[in-house]
Amino acid sequence: MSAGNRRAAEAPAESVETTAPAGVVEVTAAEDASDDFAFVAPAQLASGWTTFRMTNTGHPTISGWHSSRALLPAQAPPQPQHLSRSAFGDKRAYARRLMSSTDSGQAASSLLTHVGGTPLIRLQRASPNPKVEIWAKLELANPTGSLKDRIALHMIEQAEARGELRPGMIIVEATSGNTGIALGMVAAVKGYRLKLFMLENKTLERRKILRHWGVDLVLTSQDDPDSHIYGAQGQIAAEPERYFYINQNENQDNVRAHEQGTGPEIAETLEGKIDAVVAGYGTGGCLTGIARAFRSRGIGARIVAVEPGGEPRAKIDGLKHSSESYQPPIYDRELIDHTIEAPEEETYRVTRELARREGLIAGLSSGACLWAAQRLAKEMESGTIVVVCGDRGERYFSTRLFDAD
Ligand SMILES: Cc1ncc(COP(=O)(O)O)c(C=O)c1O
Repeated sequence: MSAGNRRAAEAPAESVETTAPAGVVEVTAAEDASDDFAFVAPAQLASGWTTFRMTNTGHPTISGWHSSRALLPAQAPPQPQHLSRSAFGDKRAYARRLMSSTDSGQAASSLLTHVGGTPLIRLQRASPNPKVEIWAKLELANPTGSLKDRIALHMIEQAEARGELRPGMIIVEATSGNTGIALGMVAAVKGYRLKLFMLENKTLERRKILRHWGVDLVLTSQDDPDSHIYGAQGQIAAEPERYFYINQNENQDNVRAHEQGTGPEIAETLEGKIDAVVAGYGTGGCLTGIARAFRSRGIGARIVAVEPGGEPRAKIDGLKHSSESYQPPIYDRELIDHTIEAPEEETYRVTRELARREGLIAGLSSGACLWAAQRLAKEMESGTIVVVCGDRGERYFSTRLFDAD
């Protein structure tokens, strides 16, 4: 369990010993050894840790050294090991080599290194069944506040690796939501221009934050709900050499970001003891990716999709209903065991409950997922359910979520 994966090493100046089974590792370096961070972190990454924290007496705590390396290929949990500096020769050279062999040369201290490796916490009061634990995967803890940071980073880095996205090209996407915001951050850090097509009726907050990152925002007619998609497609068709189309609904790197990141993180932290995972359906990337990660590890947890329900149908940012005309092709329905429709009033009520009873200011999809998990918990004898808390609540100030009861 993540909390249990604690101190792994005392790092006297010469060596680092790790004994934790998987998950969070704390490394305490010697007081005079600030540059030991550069040595120890890549060594841990190379040995397959997906999340760890480093503390150094006398120096500030550095946490979350995992980056797009939270997207490390699924591996068996690392074995206890003894890393000695002498075994690596010159520690700085070793650190440099490891860093340059990970993602596209980003220094491990960039903002992008904080994407993924999110906390998984046990909710204290949310379960209606004392024999069922409900855990929350806090995707809202990503740098821009949503699970979409993972896919924005992975889709861009994989396109770079394949040579489809090259320096000087402009990234294009049709979105007004969390994906656009995540792309704004990644494009800014990596120095790409980003052009987003968005319906003209989206909130002022969204327009302002995107322009704050220097995004080129094209507002399209609200008379046609798909006008932003046609806008992006038209842009690519006109100048394919100059633009790179992200296309999250059809991009398998969206799925892989969760298959290599979110899914393994949950599996490793709970050591595979998971009876159900509950997440919202938007592009289907999150559910499909987690399901594939679990299946490949032999974890038979039920995969439960949440869609907006009720009459009139609930509006939950980022989530879709299976009856809508456009269905993202990356969503693999064969992997989904169960779909639950969350009505609007219940979604609002449980999202508020998350704040008051658990301290979490989360978005509406988190409330919808927790409501669905509570229903499951009542039907189960005992077990463990994980809910995905996809985004922060602060993004919903202009909705009635924050209206006093
Ligand atoms: C805020 C939010 N957006 C979107 C989604 C859906 O993700 P995806 O687009 O990968 O289906 C979720 C899933 O829980 C979510 O919480």
